[in-house]
Amino acid sequence: MSERKVVEVSTQEAKRQNEIINILAQRIKGKNLKFCLSTFGCQMNARDSEKIKGMLEQIGYIQTENEDEADFILYNTCCVRENAELKIYGRLGALKGKKRKNPNLIIALCGCMMQQDVVIDTLKKNYKFVDIIFGTYNIYKLPELLQTRLETNENIIDIWDSYQDIVEDLPDARKFDFKACVNIMYGCNNFCTYCIVPYVRGRERSRQASDIIHEIENLVADGVTEIMLLGQNVNSYGKNLEEPMTFAALLKQIAEIEGLKRIRFMTSHPKDLSDELIEVMASSDKICKSLHLPFQSGSSAVLKKMNRHYTKESYLELARKIKTAMPNIALTTDIIVGFPGETEEDFEDTMDVVREVGYASAFTFVYSKRTGTPAAVMEDQIPEEVSKARFNRLLELVNTQGAEILHGYVGQTVEVLLEEVSKGNHEVLSGRTDTGLLVNLPASKELLGQYVMVNIVESKSHYLIGELAK
Ligand code: SAH
Ligand code: SF4
Ligand code: F3S
Repeated sequence: MSERKVVEVSTQEAKRQNEIINILAQRIKGKNLKFCLSTFGCQMNARDSEKIKGMLEQIGYIQTENEDEADFILYNTCCVRENAELKIYGRLGALKGKKRKNPNLIIALCGCMMQQDVVIDTLKKNYKFVDIIFGTYNIYKLPELLQTRLETNENIIDIWDSYQDIVEDLPDARKFDFKACVNIMYGCNNFCTYCIVPYVRGRERSRQASDIIHEIENLVADGVTEIMLLGQNVNSYGKNLEEPMTFAALLKQIAEIEGLKRIRFMTSHPKDLSDELIEVMASSDKICKSLHLPFQSGSSAVLKKMNRHYTKESYLELARKIKTAMPNIALTTDIIVGFPGETEEDFEDTMDVVREVGYASAFTFVYSKRTGTPAAVMEDQIPEEVSKARFNRLLELVNTQGAEILHGYVGQTVEVLLEEVSKGNHEVLSGRTDTGLLVNLPASKELLGQYVMVNIVESKSHYLIGELAK
């Protein structure tokens, strides 16, 4: 499909949905209807939820955090691990009674979990009270699905097998005024053998650089100073564009946007991290010195079975190169323990990598079997007790190391973007350093969204404590 056609089709589609939004707005006007949206999973889902919220608010729904007072309950689901799915089924069970009490309540499910046939079959059989089900490719159609539901009173299931177009220019409701997430690409082509994401998010497709730049310029004009660029593997950005371009080149263009102060991105697949990217990162003050670089396993044999396309040695070499170019960078990672066939030696390789690289923090997961992925049918699935025991050893190492890295900040003065009022104490604000570390400090709410210099006075296991520098 030509570039022009894609743009035309998606512009028309956005226009059509916007018209439906206006019709629905008339319909619910004055009714004071509320929606409650729960988001599970990663930043991709969080970003999609901002779009869902944007559409619903445009229609006139008011957001509530309390399901009991909601007229419309939505779950944006995740299926990356079994636990994530169990959580959704648990919450759904509780909704059944609510629906019985209030037949006007509308319940919608969307997101990654809905892209699996087995889930749809289960919902059809055991959760007939769900009104609207849609997937990851047709979020923008929510106004139309809601309209059909309201007009026909029938349950609606609309799941696509793959994406059609990237629809630009829909309503959007950002969580923060001063920072925002921006999708630069969707889907994933990597098929790591444990992972369900490529099956539920489809093949990799990059947005046009001009659309991305335009979106960021608008955000900056609206007061945003920090952006997080999102993709399952940002390092392969642009490869499938009609005029291919690298992620590093995109970053360079973004860094030129005046008024933008901080650029973050995730996730970086080690196999595609280029020297060009390291250079661009090192040479721009706007690009934050923090990098999420999942290694999953330290064992080259396991990595091969995971289809990750790098080895323990090449990962360590890459980490060294990054740290040489940017000595103050904070690295973070994702690690899976208990992948099928993982031996004690394989696990020790994982511990080695953690010890050698040094991570400010790490997300650690026990391998979870996902039906339909190659690893689910591999021999030598690891017994739960073994995985759990390894997991605990790893967690201890990761926590100790993270705490040590944080401790190294004590006595330093760092720039912090103040982001939120601390949940536990209203006189305390929390923010992040350029390197992505969490800092709590006493400060007035008026300073939210501002960059301040902070003296770090203490470190805890997962965050720093500071004071405003005079
Ligand atoms: N695209 C990103 C990660 C997406 S999923 C990347 O490649 O890094 C986030 C993390 O969930 C993965 O990095 C992996 O550590 C974990 N994960 C994915 N599938 C899993 C599974 N089946 N069991 C346990 N952890 C899993
Ligand atoms: Fe999953 Fe691998 Fe793609 Fe990440 S790169 S989303 S882990 S398949
Ligand atoms: Fe993210 Fe979960 Fe989907 S991790 S991409 S929300 S399966």
